[in-house]
Amino acid sequence: HEETLVLVKPDGVERGLTGQILARIEAKGYVITELRMLTPTREMLVKHYEEHEGKPFFEPLVEFMGSGPVVAARVTGNRVIEGFRSLAGATEPTTAAPGTIRGDLGRDWGEQVQKNLVHGSDSTLSAERELGIWFG
Ligand code: GTP
Ligand code: MG
Repeated sequence: HEETLVLVKPDGVERGLTGQILARIEAKGYVITELRMLTPTREMLVKHYEEHEGKPFFEPLVEFMGSGPVVAARVTGNRVIEGFRSLAGATEPTTAAPGTIRGDLGRDWGEQVQKNLVHGSDSTLSAERELGIWFG
């Protein structure tokens, strides 16, 4: 089996979509093995998003992610990294396909592209690194 880190971002928690998002993960057959709700520190977020440091959206992204509670889940299953990214859909809610979390539930917030409900690790290496940040 494989593991990934899923985050329900502050917009998802604030809109009351946590249950629906976790239900989609479980309905697909993946198993949530660890779960926590927390408002992440800037230090955690800078580490989490280190690949984006220096990009123009880095500061707005880190600020938004620290603006309120986030739900972090350790999720396991066969090919769950690829599978969850497929469930999540494309980065922008407007272009994400219907049937995906972002496509069905994501709002278009204009320039605030950082508000797209969820995060999922993009490789086994990122998953291991990110799970260490959120679950120690
Ligand atoms: P994650 O699962 O969150 O990693 O999404 P992703 O892999 O689809 O996107 P990526 O890793 O490229 O970017 C990380 C996050 O930064 C995205 O989920 C968005 O929240 C945000 N982001 C990406 N591109 C932009 C952008 O052009 N502008 C803004 N404001 N935010 C962006
Ligand atoms: Mg990414």
